[in-house]
Amino acid sequence: MTFHIDAELLDDAASIEALIETCFGPNRKGRTVYQFRDGIPPVHELCFVARNEADRMLGSIRFWPVQTGDGRILPLLGPLAVLPECQGQGIGRTLITHGLGAAERMGFPAVLIVGKPDYYVPFGFDRGLADGLTLPGPVAPLTFMAMEFPGHEGCLDHYAGLVKPADNWSHPVFSHKDCLAS
Ligand SMILES: CC(C)(COP(=O)(O)OP(=O)(O)OC[C@H]1O[C@@H](n2cnc3c(N)ncnc32)[C@H](O)[C@@H]1OP(=O)(O)O)[C@@H](O)C(=O)NCCC(=O)NCCS
Repeated sequence: MTFHIDAELLDDAASIEALIETCFGPNRKGRTVYQFRDGIPPVHELCFVARNEADRMLGSIRFWPVQTGDGRILPLLGPLAVLPECQGQGIGRTLITHGLGAAERMGFPAVLIVGKPDYYVPFGFDRGLADGLTLPGPVAPLTFMAMEFPGHEGCLDHYAGLVKPADNWSHPVFSHKDCLAS
C-alpha cells in the first residue's frame, strides 16, 4: 500500500475521532492518559496523519504536552492509531518515526509514553527511563516508558515527580530551554 505522512489539518479532526473510537473504544476517556488531554490541545507541530493516494486518512499520531513535578515540559506520545484494515503495513512505524523526528527537531530531549512494551521498545522506549516519574492514576504494568534522544542520554535523571497536565503551556510562550535537561 502506498501512503504518505502529512501534518494534521483541522478538517481531519472528525475522522481522527472516529478512528480513535474504533481503535480504543468508548471507555478510553477513563484512562489515566486522558487526564493530560482534558481541555488541553495536543502539540500542534507533532500531529501527523498517514494518507493514501486518494488522500484518505489511514492513521494518526498525536503527542500531548505534559509537565513533570519540577515544571519541565515533555511530549507524551499518543494516541497512535491505524485503520484496522490497514494495520501491519508499516503505517504505525512510519508515523512514530516521523513524530519522534519532529519532537527531536523541536528541541525536546525525551518523550514519554503509556503503551504496549512489545510495540514501543523497538523504537527506544524503556520502562527504566521513566523510573523517576509517577502518573496521576493507574496504568497497565510496564506500560509507562520513556526514550531519550541522542545527545540527551541521561537527561531523564533530572526529571522527577508526578506528571501533570501542562495546562499552563502554550506555544507562543514556549521556551525550548524550559524542556531541556539541566
Ligand atoms: C498498534 C498500531 C498503531 C500499529 O500500527 P501498524 O501500522 O499496524 O504497525 P506497523 O505495521 O507499523 O508495525 C510495526 C512493527 O510493530 C509490530 N506490531 C504491530 N502491531 C503490534 C502490536 N499490537 N503489538 C506488538 N507489535 C506489533 C509489527 O509486527 C511490526 O514489526 P516489524 O517492524 O518487526 O515488522 C495499530 O495496530 C493500531 O492502531 N492498533 C490499535 C490501537 C493501538 O493499540 N494503538 C497503540 C496503543 S499502545
